[in-house]
Amino acid sequence: MPDDHTQPAATYGSYLRIDDLLSLQQPRSVEHDEMLFIVIHQVYELWFKELLHELDRVNALLEQDESHRAQHTLKRILTILKVMVAQLDILETMTPLEFLTFRQRLDAASGFQSDQFRQIEFVLGVKSEHVLRRFPPGSRAFAALERRYAAPTLWDAFLHYLSREQYAVPPAHLARDASAPIEPSPEIQRILVDVYRRDPKNAELCERLVDLDEGIQEWRYRHVKMVERTIGTRRGTGGSAGAAYLRETVGRALFPDLWAIRSQL
Ligand code: HEM
Repeated sequence: MPDDHTQPAATYGSYLRIDDLLSLQQPRSVEHDEMLFIVIHQVYELWFKELLHELDRVNALLEQDESHRAQHTLKRILTILKVMVAQLDILETMTPLEFLTFRQRLDAASGFQSDQFRQIEFVLGVKSEHVLRRFPPGSRAFAALERRYAAPTLWDAFLHYLSREQYAVPPAHLARDASAPIEPSPEIQRILVDVYRRDPKNAELCERLVDLDEGIQEWRYRHVKMVERTIGTRRGTGGSAGAAYLRETVGRALFPDLWAIRSQL
């Protein structure tokens, strides 16, 4: 591509929009710890954005039968997830009393309302029309979630890939409603056992999907523990029962068939 001489040469500040970025942290109180709370949530939203970018890439690579590159991208996703889980340590340096100094200023704000987190869930097969309807029609968030609600999940892309790899994935699974929950299936489990026993390349791919599933569960577990130590049994600012609600989401598998076969191998 020829150089575009109409634009001034990029600098660190102009390329990364540092002035804009540094203007986005606007505490609502004078309390010292609120800055950390804002920065860490903004950093998470950036990682969510990058995860979505990479998850879309994995789906596209699987559709193109580029399983090696799909695995490479999955490794990047898993590395980001590990960093995301580790970042909770930073927030855990904030004591319950420090959090209480500004908590009431959050009103109803909560990670519960993060549309990018819901987008990640949707790509991974945890879809809900109820969740979609929480966002105002016409907003960026609603449009993004609506698109992902109808789009194939990572599991769908994987099943189609397996089918093209000559595995007898039943047509009903290939034509399944992509907005429906991913239910365990004995037929798919039989195929996966076969993959693990005689197809090391695709067994590796399965293992990366298990890593991803475990990584998301790890984030949920660490988040709920942080919530328990910071607000105990108080209700969430987002209006849920708080830790009791979050505990119900921990340990729910994204890809149940990949867990079900462990005892059959
Ligand atoms: C002091 C720190 C934090 C506390 C006390 C806290 C508390 C909570 C609570 C109580 C909920 C349940 C929903 C509600 O009623 O509000 C929740 C949900 C959530 N939080 Fe946090 N949170 C904290 C930090 C974070 C951070 C740093 C993130 C990163 C983005 C985050 C992301 C989320 C997400 C995505 C949900 C929705 C989970 C789901 O519905 O499965 N939280 N949080």
